Amino acid sequence: MSLISLDKEYVAPTYGRFPVELVSGKGCLLQDTQGKEYIDLTSGIGVTAFGQADEAWVAAVTEQLGKLQHCSNLYYTEPCAKLAALLCQKTGMKKVFFSNSGAEANECAIKYARKYSATKKGPDCYTIVSLQNSFHGRTLTTLSATGQDVFHKDFLPLTPGFAHVPAGDLDALTALTEQTQVAGILLECVQGEGGVVPLSAAYIQGVAQLCKARTFP
Ligand SMILES: Cc1ncc(COP(=O)(O)O)c(C=O)c1O
Repeated sequence: MSLISLDKEYVAPTYGRFPVELVSGKGCLLQDTQGKEYIDLTSGIGVTAFGQADEAWVAAVTEQLGKLQHCSNLYYTEPCAKLAALLCQKTGMKKVFFSNSGAEANECAIKYARKYSATKKGPDCYTIVSLQNSFHGRTLTTLSATGQDVFHKDFLPLTPGFAHVPAGDLDALTALTEQTQVAGILLECVQGEGGVVPLSAAYIQGVAQLCKARTFP
């Protein structure tokens, strides 16, 4: 049985796949079951930043697997603390929240913004604003943040408390923050699902200023 047939028989059909059966790779080159080569121009889906089968990465993961492969986050472990320190040093951020997916990371950001706003401004300050044509994940709440009806239609009702404005329109965003109690603004600097739409630096700086002006010390 081909990989395609096996997959079609046993995997829930939530994704439309291309008829390509990938088995291995090295760097940016991938091979299918017929030995045909492909160039991976997207690093998996932005995941394999070192390329496939990177030797240093394989060695580090293999070494760790020989020591401790999983434990509850009720305990402290060396990889967790060291990676968090490295990420903070490289990005200038203060803390790290580790999660399993982009959707979970966005859920965390939404929860942070709502908790902060409920504490500082009161329970009516909960609206999260995101952009039309955005994509923020497949959980119900990140679908609600996603500004595309095509992803919403089969899963109503969505999580309440989300509003969407056109990308790049700072006036529309500012007007909304004046009419509604906004807890947070969630945006991709380059939208990738509703077309590839980069936001201008001026717009991103304007949004950052708007957020700063509304943040309590
Ligand atoms: C911009 C953006 N945000 C969030 C997500 C959700 O990430 P994940 O699929 O890891 O939950 C994606 C996934 O494609 C994405 O493109």
